[in-house]
Amino acid sequence: MERYVSVHDLEEAALALLPKAARDYYKSGATDELTLADNKRAFQRYRIRPKCLVGIMQTDLGTTVLGQNVSMPVGISPTAMQKMAHPEGEMANAKGMLELFSIFGFATAQEEKTIYTLSTIATSSIEEVANAAPEGIKWFQLYIYTDREVTRDLVTRAEKAGYKAIALTVDTPLFGIRRADVRNKFTLPSHLRLANFEGFLSTKIHNTDEGSGLNNYVQNLFDKTLTWNDVKWLKSITKLPIVAKGILRADDAIKAVEAGCAGILVSNHGARQLDGVPATIEVLPEIVNAVKNYNVEVYLDGGVTSGTDVYKALALGAKMVFVGRPALWGLTVGGQAGVQRMLNILRMELEYALQIAGTPSVCDVTKDMIRHESAYSK
Ligand code: FNR
Repeated sequence: MERYVSVHDLEEAALALLPKAARDYYKSGATDELTLADNKRAFQRYRIRPKCLVGIMQTDLGTTVLGQNVSMPVGISPTAMQKMAHPEGEMANAKGMLELFSIFGFATAQEEKTIYTLSTIATSSIEEVANAAPEGIKWFQLYIYTDREVTRDLVTRAEKAGYKAIALTVDTPLFGIRRADVRNKFTLPSHLRLANFEGFLSTKIHNTDEGSGLNNYVQNLFDKTLTWNDVKWLKSITKLPIVAKGILRADDAIKAVEAGCAGILVSNHGARQLDGVPATIEVLPEIVNAVKNYNVEVYLDGGVTSGTDVYKALALGAKMVFVGRPALWGLTVGGQAGVQRMLNILRMELEYALQIAGTPSVCDVTKDMIRHESAYSK
């Protein structure tokens, strides 16, 4: 793994290894992929303003998320169908959040852990992932199916298997148009199945007459009529905290809090839903500001590929940052070890950023540590 020294290195290697349909599925954004590019570019528009001669002996990356201690403020977002990347799929990815080892001379405690989020449409089941990574902090990402008994079963199983939160995806009445999947007539390879389901629901994704098989699956099964009232229904069937995943507006953030969500994940679904929506780092400040008087945590995902990206999101008020594709690249390249490598790279880069910017712990990364580039051109 030593030859990979950036998330980009892992991405390049993974793209060379993956079969075309899986590669296109993992990397695509919606339609013209303008937001996909902007998710990354928007981070570059912020500049870090280091403080000199602060005299830091040690950095502290630890934080708490929904009452759980995490070793660093970077977790793993849910991405579907991970066995296309590696035979151990979600199980290897979940194990990757554990046992971070030191690299580049920074000693880190072993057996550290962060958060792994399992997708509803995974190729390993809720129970398989729980057994593979029993000590890790696991969240379950939920899509609400029209069949509420199917949905209730997923939530009950996640709760029973020790998952610590439900990340309810709120940006997906249907899946966005990903042109490569349409061209490829994307379907799940027939030796794999959607492991959280039995029968028809686990194999329907093997077929498509026209276009993306995934979009056809979602069109038929996800509940398009969802409103914030359904979050209240979800709260009535689980004791787990609910994180609203996919918020891009201040007023929606407030609706999420009022519906009882304990966390807000500012996300545009990796730019895979609607092209032309803002980059997540762009809307983070208005959302943090909108909910500042409520007891709710705000997180971000989308386009995070370096320690300085994480730093900037923390400065703008995110409690935690999540990565989707970077974990898929690590998984493809080296299974569990590849995911660990990816997290270690981000940890190390964040440690350097904390030290060199003169901010010893993540709590010291306040808003004044960064500035938008527009402030420099006035
Ligand atoms: C996703 N995402 C996603 N989100 C979700 O709620 N349920 C899911 O099943 C999936 N599946 C999925 C598959 C793939 C291949 C990708 C790339 C993304 C969105 C994901 O959770 C997250 O929001 C983004 O991946 C974050 O952006 P980055 O880190 O990939 O830039």
